Amino acid sequence: MFAAVSKPFYIYSAGLTVIGTGYILKDYFSGDLYDNEQKLTDKVVIVTGANTGIGKEVVRDLAKREAKVIMACRDMEKCESTRLNIVMESKNKYVYCRPCDLASQKSIKDFVEQFKKEHKNLHILINNAGVMRCPKNYTQEGIEMQFGVNHIGHFLLTNLLLDVLKVSTPSRIVNVSSIAHKRGKIKLDDLNSDKNYEPGEAYAQSKLANILFTKELANKLKGTGVTVNAVHPGIVRTEIMRHMAIYQHRLGKWLVDSLTWIFIKTPRKGAQPVLFAALDPSLDNVTGEYFVDNKIAEVSDEAKNDKIAKWLWAVSEKWTKLNYV
Ligand SMILES: NC(=O)c1ccc[n+]([C@@H]2O[C@H](COP(=O)([O-])OP(=O)(O)OC[C@H]3O[C@@H](n4cnc5c(N)ncnc54)[C@H](OP(=O)(O)O)[C@@H]3O)[C@@H](O)[C@H]2O)c1
Repeated sequence: MFAAVSKPFYIYSAGLTVIGTGYILKDYFSGDLYDNEQKLTDKVVIVTGANTGIGKEVVRDLAKREAKVIMACRDMEKCESTRLNIVMESKNKYVYCRPCDLASQKSIKDFVEQFKKEHKNLHILINNAGVMRCPKNYTQEGIEMQFGVNHIGHFLLTNLLLDVLKVSTPSRIVNVSSIAHKRGKIKLDDLNSDKNYEPGEAYAQSKLANILFTKELANKLKGTGVTVNAVHPGIVRTEIMRHMAIYQHRLGKWLVDSLTWIFIKTPRKGAQPVLFAALDPSLDNVTGEYFVDNKIAEVSDEAKNDKIAKWLWAVSEKWTKLNYV
């Protein structure tokens, strides 16, 4: 009887079993979907860097919850094509593309001005946009690109939006940081990496700055009804690695993608921790924290240093010419 089963059948079955097990393991490693079904009708949300990756999946979910979502992006063509896709799927027409290049303080100010003309409230601000390990480059104001976009751009944007967040309480700010902050150091004598630029170091510094900013802002916002928390989304297959040498070659990219496939989250799964921090009712009064896998997590020693947080705030104020507090 067994002889009747052909060899290709065994090979085929073994192949399917391996693939099936792979998918089960991948699903297990990448965590659960955020399954709270709350609606966000009439709530206004801004998501930066929303045309791709984690930001795009966050917007898709928020749109399905009936939120009014403003996609703050630098490339309007990419933004519009993502927006159309999300509007068609969610049947929510209140999803908007608005230009906001975080590498230009003028663009950030123009974005805020237009936002305030169009909306009286802001319930959730998701500072998600990011650039990683890019070649040495500067923002329009001469700030090193990773520090300038990932920290300084969001610092300015958030501060300019605090008034609308405060009149919309309870409201939340979510800063998408990274576990990479643990490798980070705030270079007190070379914050702008002018003397020495190492792409990985500059990324880690910018992600550490996200956490120091979160903690200092939480102190300043105590009692206002506006909370602010930071999140590590996990390791997610997005375009974030676009500047890394191995990702510039098709073969290298294919090799890395294949070897790491099981352990790396899809963008949809990567969006879940961000949605949890932005929406979960259990966090109504939680502020100044850093979340990994939907739990408060330990930050690096430097991220706990209040003196550095205050120093960074003062420098960031100076570099953005901001003097609101
Ligand atoms: N993926 C991961 O494994 C991982 C892990 C930890 C933390 N994170 C963090 O997650 C966040 C989202 O990253 P992702 O993984 O989704 O990467 P991604 O796919 O590369 O998306 C990054 C987004 O940021 C935008 N952006 C870059 N520079 C900008 C600028 N100057 N002005 C406005 N928007 C700009 C990009 O726009 P363009 O498409 O126009 O470039 C894109 O929409 C980042 O803060 C990243 O540091 C990611």
